[in-house]
Amino acid sequence: MHVTVRDIQRRLSVAGHEYSAGYASLLYERIPIQELESALRAVDQGYPVPVLAGLLPFLGLDLKVTENVLMPGPETAALTRTTLVVLAEIEGSPSVLEIGTGSGAIAVSLAHHHRSARITATDISPGALEIAQVNAQKVGVSDRVRLIRHDCREHLDRVGPFDVVVSNPPYVATNDVAKLPPQWSMFTPRIAVDGGGDGLSLIRAVVRQAAQLLRAGGYLVLECDDGQRATVEEIIAESGSWAVRSLCGRAGEGRVIVARFAGVDVGKDSVEWGNLDSLMGSFATVESVYHDELTHGVPLSHIPPWSERTTPRAR
Ligand SMILES: C[S@@+](CC[C@H](N)C(=O)[O-])C[C@H]1O[C@@H](n2cnc3c(N)ncnc32)[C@H](O)[C@@H]1O
Repeated sequence: MHVTVRDIQRRLSVAGHEYSAGYASLLYERIPIQELESALRAVDQGYPVPVLAGLLPFLGLDLKVTENVLMPGPETAALTRTTLVVLAEIEGSPSVLEIGTGSGAIAVSLAHHHRSARITATDISPGALEIAQVNAQKVGVSDRVRLIRHDCREHLDRVGPFDVVVSNPPYVATNDVAKLPPQWSMFTPRIAVDGGGDGLSLIRAVVRQAAQLLRAGGYLVLECDDGQRATVEEIIAESGSWAVRSLCGRAGEGRVIVARFAGVDVGKDSVEWGNLDSLMGSFATVESVYHDELTHGVPLSHIPPWSERTTPRAR
C-alpha cells in the first residue's frame, strides 16, 4: 500500500482534526505503515496524535508524551513564551517554581530557552514526574530542573523564595469533565483536568502557594479558562498586593494571567507594574515566534494570536 503524507493529512482534515498538516507528518514519520490504519481509527476516536507518535513538538523541542500526562496545547506554549518574556526581565539566574508540571513541557522549555534559569517543578502524579524526568534528560537540562512530588494544596517546605511561579493547573469543573472532547475526557488523566466543583480549587491552591513562595516583586504566570478570568483575578487580589494583567487572544478570550507580587502585608500603593507594561508591547513578536516554533508546519488559522489586553487591578 502506498500512502503519502498528503493522504493522511486529507483524511485528518476531512474528519475535522486540528493541526492536520503537522499531525499527518508526525503519523507518517513515526507510525509503521501496517499500523497506520488502526492509528488513524484511534485518532478518530480522540486519541492524541503526539501520544500515538510518542513525540510532541513544543517550542522547538521534541518532547515525549504518554497517557500519563496531559498534552500541552497552544495556550500552554503561549504561557511558556510569556514566562520567558518575564524571565528576560530578571537579572542573574532567576528561580522558577512550576506547579503541576505534567510532561515537564513548561519547565524543560524554560530551562532550554533561558540558559541560567533554575527550575523547581512539582506534580502530584509520580507517572507524570517520570515523563518530566525523561524530557529534562532528553533536552539536557536535568541539572537545572529539580522535580519534586508534591500536592500543591499542602505547604511546600524548604524551597524558595522564587522569582517566578508558573502554572497550568487543572481548571475544568468536575461536572464538565465528561463534556470535554474525548482527548481530555477519556485519554488524559483525570487528575490533570479536574479542577474540583467550581474548577478553581487548584487555581486557589496555586495562588496561595505563589503568595507564600514568591519574593516581593516576583511574578505569577497562570493559565485559566476565559470564563474564569475575572474570578481568578479576584482570587489573586484577595491573597495579597498584586498588579494583574490578563493577556488575551484576538477573539478576546483571556487565558494567561500575569501578576506581579508586592507582598501580603504591604499597602496597595507599593504595587508596581514596573517594566512589564513595556514588555507587553512585545507580545506581537512573541506570538509570531511561538507560532513558528510550536507548529512545525501546522496550519494556524484557528489559533488566535496573543495580544495585549490590560485590566489593571492593583490593590
Ligand atoms: C493541566 S495539567 C498541566 C501539565 C503541564 N504543566 C502542561 O501544561 O502541559 C495539570 C497538572 O497538575 C497536576 N496536578 C493535579 N493536581 C495536583 C495537585 N494537587 N498538586 C500538584 N499537582 C497536581 C496533574 O498531575 C497535571 O500534571
